[in-house]
Amino acid sequence: MRDSQDVVPAEQVLNSMSVLRVIGGSPLRGSVEVPGSKNAALAILSAVLLAKGPIVLTNVPRIRDIDIKLRLLQKFGAVVRWDEGSLHIDASNLTGCEADEESVRPIRTSFYLIGPLLARLGKARLPAPGGCNIGARPVDYHMKGLALMGATVDLDSGKYIADVEKLVGAEIYLDFPSAGATQHLMATACLANGITTIQNAAIEPEVTTLAAFLKRLGARITGDGTQTITIEGVEELHGGSFRVPEDRIQAATYLMAGAITMGDVTTQGILPETQTALINKLREAGADCEEGNDWVRVSAKNRLRGIRVKTMPYPGFPTDMQQPMSSVLALADGVSVIEETIYEARVGHVSQLNRMGAKIRIEGKSILIDGTDHLQGAIVEASDLRAGAALVLAGLAAEGETIIKNVHLIDRGYENLENTLNGLGGNIMRIPLAEWEAAHNHAAEPRLH
Ligand code: EPU
Repeated sequence: MRDSQDVVPAEQVLNSMSVLRVIGGSPLRGSVEVPGSKNAALAILSAVLLAKGPIVLTNVPRIRDIDIKLRLLQKFGAVVRWDEGSLHIDASNLTGCEADEESVRPIRTSFYLIGPLLARLGKARLPAPGGCNIGARPVDYHMKGLALMGATVDLDSGKYIADVEKLVGAEIYLDFPSAGATQHLMATACLANGITTIQNAAIEPEVTTLAAFLKRLGARITGDGTQTITIEGVEELHGGSFRVPEDRIQAATYLMAGAITMGDVTTQGILPETQTALINKLREAGADCEEGNDWVRVSAKNRLRGIRVKTMPYPGFPTDMQQPMSSVLALADGVSVIEETIYEARVGHVSQLNRMGAKIRIEGKSILIDGTDHLQGAIVEASDLRAGAALVLAGLAAEGETIIKNVHLIDRGYENLENTLNGLGGNIMRIPLAEWEAAHNHAAEPRLH
């Protein structure tokens, strides 16, 4: 039995104080089994606190954010263990409603525990969440929704203090179709008295996945996957089992790895409709894309051409694919413009790609790319998860050696990124940071004659 009785992550996850050394130049070819979805699993791992009964989840990705979330669930009394790749969680007996800053800050979805804790215990005390460094990321929609359901939520010295006697159904309108607010409020409403409607709800696949999970536990939800979701509150949710679907952003990353290296990559186990925006934009740029029932294939024989891309809520082009797409377009022929409309500061990759010879500048919400025909390996730093993925892709297509620092940020969301890419013909090695620094400093020392 592997990792039974605990939530110790895979070895790779522990080995985050490393750099990735990427040797570029080989086209990536082959097929990838995509791991389970990070964002679907994180949303489910908030909703598990609603259930009185054992839950078994399969296909949960073994990544750092999941491990952090599981440790947090344990703080509230949930019993958590891995058993042969299945994740067992029992939150029948919650013992507390409070968590410390250190457990909460690293991931944004820790905030989505407030609603379930309110529903089960009538109170929650949680420090403000953190997450990737990509913009302000307010939580006002969550707060307003919980208030409409009868809760008082105050922010006191960086800590949310939430209380409620009994949650009540409400009519909630979101100013923007926020994935997180839709998931948080939909899950919370499952145990509210009466009917809740969420208008202008997000229609992201991760919302429908969460609804499917909640329905498995006895929730009454209709309209998920549309802009109006209706939830009829029930007295209790019971246990159940659920398989997390494959990660559409990881799949997209591998497909873009095929495109940027002028290779040929197929992702298996992924619904093509979750890749529609990417497929269409890659086709527009000159890549060949094919799709089947549960697979997508991308290949590129020639250099791609520059295009315009605008990030939007689903089914628009996902913001999570914007940074890797910047790398792809940095090597395209001609000018590209990417408009980032979701996060104002999701541009940490730009300066690092420029270190590798890309010609990219930022103007307001737009990333303006003047395509170059080659990138050069360099020492670069990931500023956030998807910036890290963008640098790995750029490294795979660049001449020579790229060293990527801050690998722990990549480990937040990619399970075995380097092994998967190496399986396609990539050349990526994880080197302990201390070892790399010692070798690098030694190499950089001036020689005495
Ligand atoms: N927003 C508000 N107020 C709120 C909530 C959101 O103004 O109360 C704004 C945000 O600032 C942003 C927009 O609404 O401008 C959309 O944010 P959303 O709430 O949809 O994002 P999220 O739920 O916080 C999830 C993913 C992100 C992904 C976005 C958009 C998780 C854990 N995170 O975040 O994933 O970028 O949806 O699709 O599900 C990633 O995986 O790299 C990542 C950042």
